[in-house]
Parts: sequence; C-alpha cells; structure tokens
Amino acid sequence: MIPVVLSGGSGSRLWPLSRSSHPKQFLPLCSDQSMVQETLTRLSRSVASQSPIFVTAEDQRFLLAEQIRSLGVSDSRIILEPARRNTAPAIALACLCALEQDPEAVVLVLPSDHHIKDQPAFHEALALANAAALEGKLVTFGIVPSKPETGYGYIKVGNQKSGPSRPIAAFVEKPDFETAKQYVADDHYYWNSGMFAFRADLYLSELAKFNPDMIAACRAAWQNKSLDLDFVRIGTDDFLKSPEDSIDYAVMEKTDKGVVIPLDAGWSDVGSWQSLWEVKEGDEFGNVFEGDVLALDTENSMAISQSRLVSLLGVKNIAVIETRDAVLVADIDQVQRVKNIVKTIEESG
Ligand code: GDD
Ligand code: MG
Repeated sequence: MIPVVLSGGSGSRLWPLSRSSHPKQFLPLCSDQSMVQETLTRLSRSVASQSPIFVTAEDQRFLLAEQIRSLGVSDSRIILEPARRNTAPAIALACLCALEQDPEAVVLVLPSDHHIKDQPAFHEALALANAAALEGKLVTFGIVPSKPETGYGYIKVGNQKSGPSRPIAAFVEKPDFETAKQYVADDHYYWNSGMFAFRADLYLSELAKFNPDMIAACRAAWQNKSLDLDFVRIGTDDFLKSPEDSIDYAVMEKTDKGVVIPLDAGWSDVGSWQSLWEVKEGDEFGNVFEGDVLALDTENSMAISQSRLVSLLGVKNIAVIETRDAVLVADIDQVQRVKNIVKTIEESG
C-alpha cells in the first residue's frame, strides 16, 4: 500500500502550542517525534511501507519536507494545494499520483495528526485492509465509540460478515448529539477513524459517480502540474474550480462498496488538550506535567510550560498551557471551546 498523508489542518483546538504557522502535525506532542513523523514511523515494517505521498498547503511545504528528510525518508512526493478544498479533492490528487507509479495501486489514506498506541494491532488491521481493498472495497477503520462525540463520523455495520470486514450499512458524518447518543448505545456503530484504504482507481471512479465536477477539476489540475524538486505543483486555476467537500460526505456516505475493519489499537485523534491528557496517562494524581512545572495539591490536571515556571496550587481538572507569548488556563472539560478563543483572536486582528 502507498501511504497518502494528509497535512492540511491548522489544529486550532491545541492553541496556544499549535498555531496556523506551525500546526499540530508538526509538534512533538505525544513523543520526541512530531505527529507527522510518528505517522510515518508507525508504518515501518507494515504492509504500507512504500514511498509516501503527502498532500499539503504551499506554506507548509518546507516544514513538512524538513521533517520527512530528518527521518531519512526518500522518494516521497509532496503535492501542494493552492487552496484548501477539504479531503475529497486532496485524496483524488494523491490517487492520480499513485496511479502514475502503479496502475493497480492501493493507497492508505492517513491524517497526519493522530496517535495510535498499539503498533502490532494497527499493523494487523492494515494487512486486513489491504486484502479487502484488493477485493474492490473502500475500507474504513472502525473504533468502538466511548462517548457521543459529535466531531466524528459514525459507521453502522450490517450483520453479515465477509472475512474480518463488515459491510457498511450506513455512514453518518458528524451527527447531532442526540443521534450520537443513540449510536453509542447501539453496538452496530463504530467511529470512523479518518483513515481509509482502497484501490486508487476505485476511489476515482466512485468520486466520478457522485461528484463529476470535482473529479474533472482534479484531473485537469493534475494534468497541468509541474515538478519542483520533490514538490508537485498542480494547475492552480483548474484546482480552484473544484467544489469543496470531505471524503466522508462526498464518497463514504454514498458508496455501496464500503467496509469496516475494526481497530482496537488505542487510537486517538488528539483533537483537544483533554485527549492529549488522556493519551499521556497521568501520574498517580492524574496529572500530566511538561517543562518547568511545580504543583501542590493538584489533581487531574495538565500543565505544559515552554518558557517560565508554571505553578499550580489546590486545583483540579484544569489545563495550563504556557508559551512565550500566550497562556491558556481552562477547565479541562471545556477545552473543545479553545477554537472559539482562536476565532475571537483572529477576528480582532
Ligand atoms: N491536504 C489537505 N487538504 N488535507 C486536509 C484538508 C485539505 O483541504 N482538509 C483536511 N485535511 C486533513 C487534516 O489535516 C486532517 O489530517 C485530515 O485531513 C482530516 O481532516 P479533519 O478536518 O481533521 O477532519 P475531521 O476531524 O473533521 O473529521 C474526519 O476525521 C474524524 C476522525 O478524526 C472525518 O473523517 C470523520 O469521519 C472522522 O471521525
Ligand atoms: Mg480531525
């Protein structure tokens, strides 16, 4: 399988560490490696160890290229998007690229900013996904839901089984809270992890069925590309004509070729300070501290200090993230709303 790594996000919920000029995927949040480096490292010795294809924005290109180079990864392709059009067109470009390398290519689409704890379990799921993709399926990786998260897609599986994969009975991207609650209580539903595996030609033909304008724009943009070192610059005017949509709405909700491979590997999309706190597993008091932090009588809290001593006294359930020019202090149960702070800062210029 050819890994396709999507690096388009700005990770505003992890402000103030994650900034639009240096987003989440380039930060070493879960280990010594950045999230995008972890994404690649986690594939070594798996069925997806071919040279990767990246799809990213023009202004992230040097940061990305440098982080890939420092891992010693060679022969990668970095496709540069002149504007964000969400994941469906980004994946279409990567599929066109993969087909130039191998007309029967199977791609593994990966977000660049997720954490997976159990590597062997992940590798096992990849091998099963590869087999299902070769049989002409669009494969998703399903996570057993633990709460009614409205930021995820939900996959309903049918009762019939074909080998280790289950056919998708319904795919619902980002349901409302009440619907999500019903899904969590029903064991036919999984979370969509945002990773996919399929033959590149099958993705393109499904997309052509559901969104002919998008595929036409992507094909034209790919045809009018130019190469600059490892970077692939696509036809700007052509790509700008593409409608904007995610793979989830554009293809997965509509296709009848979708299957789920269950994944129980400690997956997290590290979407907030709370989920990073969960990934990090705290000390005996449930605390996660990094940098120069002094705490007394503190429980279930997270503190990251980058430039000064941060001290906590007699507090519970809070997140303190200190950087040189901004400090966040938040109730750890409310950190989803950090993106509202970022929005307010952006609006006030
Ligand atoms: N290159 C590129 N261009 N990448 C993009 C673009 C784009 O225009 N838009 C998004 N991406 C990248 C993001 O950087 C991220 O790595 C990945 O594609 C997914 O996009 P998100 O914006 O993070 O999607 P989401 O979190 O709202 O939802 C998706 O992921 C959930 C799991 O984390 C969906 O697939 C959900 O169904 C899923 O549950
Ligand atoms: Mg996401």
